[in-house]
Amino acid sequence: MIEQLSLTNIKAFRSADLRLAPITLLTGLNSSGKSTVLQSLALLRQSYESGTLLSTDGDSDSRGGFLLDGELVELGTGQDLLHEDFVRTEPDEPDPTITVEFRTDLGRTYSWSARYSPEDDVLPLTRAAFDTPLAELPLFSRHFQYLKADRIVPATTYPRSHHQAIGRGFLGARGEHTVNFLRHHQQDVVPDGPLRHPQARAHTLMDQVVAWMQKLCPGVNLAAEEIPGIDSVRLSYGFGGTAGLDSTRRRRPTNVGFGLTYALPVVVACLSAQPGSLILLENPEAHLHPQGQTWLAYLTVAAVAAGAQVIMETHSDHVLNGLRIAVKDGRLPASSTAVHFFRRHGQAAEIISPRMGEDGMLSDWPEGFFDEWENSLEQLLD
Ligand SMILES: Nc1ncnc2c1ncn2[C@@H]1O[C@H](COP(=O)(O)OP(=O)(O)OP(=O)(O)O)[C@@H](O)[C@H]1O
Ligand SMILES: [Mg+2]
Repeated sequence: MIEQLSLTNIKAFRSADLRLAPITLLTGLNSSGKSTVLQSLALLRQSYESGTLLSTDGDSDSRGGFLLDGELVELGTGQDLLHEDFVRTEPDEPDPTITVEFRTDLGRTYSWSARYSPEDDVLPLTRAAFDTPLAELPLFSRHFQYLKADRIVPATTYPRSHHQAIGRGFLGARGEHTVNFLRHHQQDVVPDGPLRHPQARAHTLMDQVVAWMQKLCPGVNLAAEEIPGIDSVRLSYGFGGTAGLDSTRRRRPTNVGFGLTYALPVVVACLSAQPGSLILLENPEAHLHPQGQTWLAYLTVAAVAAGAQVIMETHSDHVLNGLRIAVKDGRLPASSTAVHFFRRHGQAAEIISPRMGEDGMLSDWPEGFFDEWENSLEQLLD
């Protein structure tokens, strides 16, 4: 598990140090640096997968380095990535260094530094320090999911890529391989433990997905099927007689509430988590009603209790409160949580990190941190 993450000269951060826990919430104002934290980890993963993270001694044509534009993140060129646009004031001023470093719970430190190169989309490594095979780390293993805010929307078909969904076990940064993953793995058994929903019909992945989705929309069920003859798969929904809908009819995603399909990749990522999985989530709550947001928090807590590490960006006080209730109820120890509040301080990002107690209470409640309810209420009662 990653316990500490340090970033230097990356976008909004001149330097930042973050404690990461089994479950970490990144909260705060828009454009305050939350996604940048996730992108930094995704940048390492993307560079590793393209083989550019392993050494500093590549030649100029095939040199290693941070691969800025790829499948997971599209960060542009060095000029886009470097904290504030770098302007050389002296001709012989040295190039600034961009560093991503983390420490694991085993006390091992992994660090990569790259040289600034304004026009390049691969920044050459000047330092790569790590002591165990990287493939052993969840960040570089197949037990990794990264779901961005820009996710799949309801559609009539979804891609059928064996390589991505089955070979790599990857749902896609937009969750685009989720339906194919679910189609292929629907009979897999969700292991006994916190992820199993007590009201599910059976222990299979599909039955568990349905049970958790019913927390978002009572009575719903899903089917993920191949479409014979073409390289696409189909998702359909049924409603067990709820909402006055005919229970025998299948409905295509485009004719069903947006939030269900939007949340599906998050639900599948959590339910297929293994001990040691790393799940990066942006705004899992998007398009869900408040109660659904709380349930989604419970599901991420269940994934963490089952051994995954979850780092998620959220704007939802229901997600925060879901986590606090889970701690209060004893589903997770408070020490397994980290909450960070990001805000801009002048040109730089500032991070405040309230600590959670075993009663779910937070040590600090900075101004702007989920206080809009009180602000509005005060105005209403004034
Ligand atoms: N090269 C750079 N130097 C300094 N700041 C930068 C640079 N590139 C981007 N930024 C700043 O980084 C921030 C981007 O933050 P990020 O995308 O992480 O926001 P966020 O907190 O995830 O927001 P949201 O809640 O809207 O998703 C913006 O404020 C942007 O101005
Ligand atoms: Mg963001």
